[in-house]
Order: sequence, then C-alpha cells, then structure tokens
Amino acid sequence: MAVQWSRGGPDLLVAVDRGAGALGAQIQDQLRTAIRDARLGAGERLPSSRRLAELLGVGRGTVVDVYQQLLAEGYLEAAVGSGTRVASIPSSAAATGHDEGVHPVRPGSARPVDFEYGVPDLRTVPLTDWSWAVSKATQTLPTAALGDEDLPGSRHLREVVTAYHRRVRAGCATARDAVVVSGFRQGLTFTLAALARHGLRRIALEDPGPRDHDLIARRAGLEAVPVPVDGSGVDVGRLRESGARVVLLTPAHQCPTGVALSPSRRRDLIAWADEVDGVILEDDYDAEFRYDRQPVGSLQGLSPARVIALGSVSKTLAPAIRLGWVLAPARFVAGIIEEKRLGSRGAPGLDQEALALLMETGRFDRHLRRMREIYRGRRDVLAAEVDRAFGPGRLRGLAAGCHALLQLPDRSSERAVAATAATMGVRVNPLGHYRFAGGGDPEGPRHAPALVLGFGNVDEQQIRSGIGTLARAVERQADEAEDPDATAARPARS
Ligand SMILES: Cc1ncc(COP(=O)(O)O)c(C=O)c1O
Repeated sequence: MAVQWSRGGPDLLVAVDRGAGALGAQIQDQLRTAIRDARLGAGERLPSSRRLAELLGVGRGTVVDVYQQLLAEGYLEAAVGSGTRVASIPSSAAATGHDEGVHPVRPGSARPVDFEYGVPDLRTVPLTDWSWAVSKATQTLPTAALGDEDLPGSRHLREVVTAYHRRVRAGCATARDAVVVSGFRQGLTFTLAALARHGLRRIALEDPGPRDHDLIARRAGLEAVPVPVDGSGVDVGRLRESGARVVLLTPAHQCPTGVALSPSRRRDLIAWADEVDGVILEDDYDAEFRYDRQPVGSLQGLSPARVIALGSVSKTLAPAIRLGWVLAPARFVAGIIEEKRLGSRGAPGLDQEALALLMETGRFDRHLRRMREIYRGRRDVLAAEVDRAFGPGRLRGLAAGCHALLQLPDRSSERAVAATAATMGVRVNPLGHYRFAGGGDPEGPRHAPALVLGFGNVDEQQIRSGIGTLARAVERQADEAEDPDATAARPARS
C-alpha cells in the first residue's frame, strides 16, 4: 500500500510492504529519509495520525508511535493547534545515513552532542496535556485558593501524590505526611534545616554522589561526611563507622554510578537507622524509568518511621515545572512546614492543581509509559554503540534512569578525555565531577576513570555520533599522553 499526500512541492510517497517486517518501522524510515533528503522541508505539516493511518490502511496507534518517535528524535515538532510539522534539522543530518553505524563528525556540520547528566527529554514534555491541566485548574479552583496556599501545600496534590507513591513506589504515606515543595532541592534544603533543629549534626553522603549536596548540607548547619558507593550501593559498614545519624541516598538508581541498592544493603541500612535512631533521606529522582528489572520499591514503604522520601517531577515532566514533595514521619512534618513558611510561603497554587489533575486523570502515567519506551530505545542504541566503539562490558547502570557510567581504559585521564571531547563538539562529565568536595585531597581517593553519560535529552542519531566522537577523543588523549608534541598541531575536530 502506498500513499501520496498533496504538498507545495513534489508529492511524497510513503509505501508499506506487508511482507517486509514492522509497518511502523517502515513508515518511520521513509519519513526520516524524506526529511533528511529535504523532500519534506522544515515547517511542512504532516497529515494527522488518523488520516495517515486511513491512507495507509494501518492502525492509528502505529502512526501515533511513529510520530512520537520522530518527535523524540527531533525530526518533527508538534505545536498546540497546528498539528505535527517537520522540524528544522541541520544539513549534516541529510548527509548521514540512519543505519550506517558510527557517523563521522565533520567540521562545521556536526550537531553538538550534550550528554549532560540529569536533563530529561525537553522536546517531549507533554505541553498539550499541561496546558489542558492549567486551563482546567483556572476554571475549577475556588477563589479562596488564589490566596496564600495551605502551608503543607494543596490538599488535592498531596492526596494524589501520596496515592501515586503508594501505587507506583510501594510507599505508605498519606496526605498528612506530605509537604509540597518547589522541586527536590528545595525540599532537601527545608528538610535538612528541620533535621538540624531536631539536634541532628552529621549527615553521610554518597561518594560519588549528586553534586552540591555537601554544600547544601553545610549551609543547613550539618557536618557532611562521605561514604563510599560500590557495586551494591552505599557501603553500610562505612556508614556505621561515620558516626552520622542521617544519610542521603539515591537507592533506586544511584547518582552517578547507576547501581541499585541491593536487597541485603537495604535491610542493613534500615537496621543501621534503628540502631542509631537515624534518618534516611531517600532521593527518588528517576525511579519511574526502569527497563530490564522490576521496579525497586521505595525505602519509605519499608520503614516509614525512619525514611523521608523526596520526589520531584523534574525528571518525569520537566525541571521548569519545579514541583516536588517531601513525605516524612510525623515527628518531622511540622519542622519542615515551618522551614517552608519562613523560606518560601508556598509553591505555585495553580500549578499544584494542574499537576494533581494531570496525575489523577492518567495523563501523567501515559506520558511515563511513552517516555519509558523512548528512553529504552536510546539506552539500547547507547549500549550497542558503546559495545562497538569500546568493546563489551564498559557500561554500567543501564537498568534504569537516563544516565549510565562509561568505564574508560585504565590509563585514560577522564578529565582530559572530557576536555578533548568538548573540542570535538561532545559535552560529557567525568566521574570525578561527582566526588565529595569536602575532603582535604582535591582529587579524592582514586577511582577507575569513567564518564557519566546522560542520555535523556539526546536523540539516537546524536548518541551514535557522540559515542563515535568519544572513542576518537579517548584515542587522541592516549596519543597525546604518549607524545604531546606529535599531536599538538592537530585541528580541534576530526
Ligand atoms: C540526584 C538528583 N535528585 C533530584 C533531582 C531533581 O531536583 P529538582 O527537583 O530540584 O530539579 C536531580 C536533578 O537533576 C538529581 O540529579
């Protein structure tokens, strides 16, 4: 079956061959090629998914999936009220075949590739759903709700979020235990200040771990101490020795190594908290995205009296929405609310209602399902490209989330490789970037050289070219380490 649709230029032919494999993949390839070859130009409008499905005699879901994939890859863009259009892509994309393996990054033609950790796909944020929810919130919120919010946050959102956390994360908090905040980081700041007022003095942090948490802890008046992370997560033996009674963790998918806290460590951790009358802060930042394994439930569900769970929609929707929550044992809730009252007076009320509506109506879950498939596709491409360019067994932390750890050859300097890659148009952070900043030794204890690859906001094409470039950066750095003079004259890009 083949169709043409009428456009200003020559007609575009899309054909499906029912004997030649997945129909969606065929349509996707043809649209991609047409866009790369500029047979479909930037701004051109595509038929609605319903119309194209009718024309081709395929299910509408097939065409919806094709459009979503191409939206995610940056070939298409969708604007409220004006349908799906061809995005403006650089001419380099036209010159590189989709299935030709590692693409050369040529001077002047490469799209920069940003493997920055922690950025979700900004092109697939469900803006249509969000604008529906904001509009609905403006129509339905009572006038009284336009004043200062209830201090813990919108009751509606607290009910919806805790129901979600019970359903999806096996938690057991209720609205009474929840405080709405403007994202994880604000929640952490309020929580640490409240814990300091409770007399807690020292906090243990994962090393390597998320950036700035040591600075935030010190600012709240706590002494921050590092605890090493190994292949099973945080080392609970070392946590015991640290003398801390508070620990901040990323147990579902450790930042940045990607390991999940093992079941025996989880049990040991909770035993530790009981022994020292301690508190576990659970940063549950990207638990929704898991691929090969069953989701690991929230620690909060295992030990609600010991765990404060902090969540946010920065990874699931977008950082710009800036909403999150703290789910805390009753003895800490009032202190956290008091910090919120003094520090902010509340989170945006209309947006809280919009988020509650998005979650309650299933739109949030639908978005997560869609993103899980998109990220899974990127992760698979990343794994295949790294295997090809670096050999097998080099990537860790792939079972969940949107980042993984690329182990470099032993003698590489991760910093030098990242700096070389930057001159070749690829941005990536060395693992050392996530080392605890408070020790006397600025390099910290040695670790095997590695790069943290965020793959949330790069498309499959960029992953292919980015990994190829990284492999060349490693080679170049090794050459330079052996013979700095011979490589000094090389051009910046290759
Ligand atoms: C480890 C970790 N936790 C939580 C978050 C979310 O923070 P926020 O909600 O303040 O954007 C991030 C964002 O990158 C993160 O890296």
